[in-house]
Amino acid sequence: MTSIVANNGDPKREIFPELTRDVIDRMKDSESPRLREILELVVSHVHAIVREAKITHDEWWQTIDFLTRAGKMCSDSRQEFILLSDILGISMLVDAIDHVGGPGLSESTVLGPFYAGQQRELAAGESILLREEESDPLEMRGRVTDSQGRPIANALVEVWQTAPNQLYDVQDENQPDGHLRGSLRTDAAGAYRFRTIMPVSYPIPNDGPAGQLLAAMGRHPFRPAHIHFMISAPGYRTLVTHLFLDGDKYLESDAVFGVKPSLIIRPRLIEGINAVEYDFGLADERESTRGQVEELRRQRREV
Ligand code: BEZ
Ligand code: FE
Repeated sequence: MTSIVANNGDPKREIFPELTRDVIDRMKDSESPRLREILELVVSHVHAIVREAKITHDEWWQTIDFLTRAGKMCSDSRQEFILLSDILGISMLVDAIDHVGGPGLSESTVLGPFYAGQQRELAAGESILLREEESDPLEMRGRVTDSQGRPIANALVEVWQTAPNQLYDVQDENQPDGHLRGSLRTDAAGAYRFRTIMPVSYPIPNDGPAGQLLAAMGRHPFRPAHIHFMISAPGYRTLVTHLFLDGDKYLESDAVFGVKPSLIIRPRLIEGINAVEYDFGLADERESTRGQVEELRRQRREV
């Protein structure tokens, strides 16, 4: 049991440090060393924030109310916690830790909340549209390779983007299900090809707690125009990424921090149609960040 010790008016003395130690000590019988490691960090960092910011009852209640409202907003078609993770940069940080990068490998970015599972399979060159849209057409093509540039045949290339009205099909009951989504397979040369329309920038859902937080931080909710890709093949790590349109005014201020220079595309007019050629490199499944993480832990234990 801990007894409550205030800092006795001394601002330099930590407030109630034995409470933090007690909470951490009581995890010693946890069966999962990894869970224990993470929870120890959570407890010590959150306690440190409460101490440093001198959180009041009122502020803590507002935090709990905010999280409660975020939870209530979640449904099959709405994930407020993914939005919060994205707008606070946490999704990109996790990805920076868990994505295997290197020469010949594509960069990744956020998944976002609008992946809707595997879609109808399209033949090479087919369109991902299920109805006409008044937008400029775009032809996307390229190859999927390993880190050495060797083709990966039969890779699954899943793509999705919003309609020109800035909404995904899952957000808009007037769009046919699966509109502007599709799944393709690479051919023996690792090539993929499909037709779509030029993507547009759009606001992430901002009618809930994540939107209120953005407004409170003085930030806009927009993402620069992009097309989502998820590329998978047996023996390789699945790549989750987007391609962003060059020139978009939100490239420097993406609401979810997802833009990387290597993912910016510049369509060229070929026979009157905007076309982009972009190759994706996938990491071998045996390459993992786990080894790097273990090494970091070992170094930390040594200091
Ligand atoms: C998206 O690009 O679909 C997305 C990503 C993060 C939050 C909201 C939307
Ligand atoms: Fe998107």
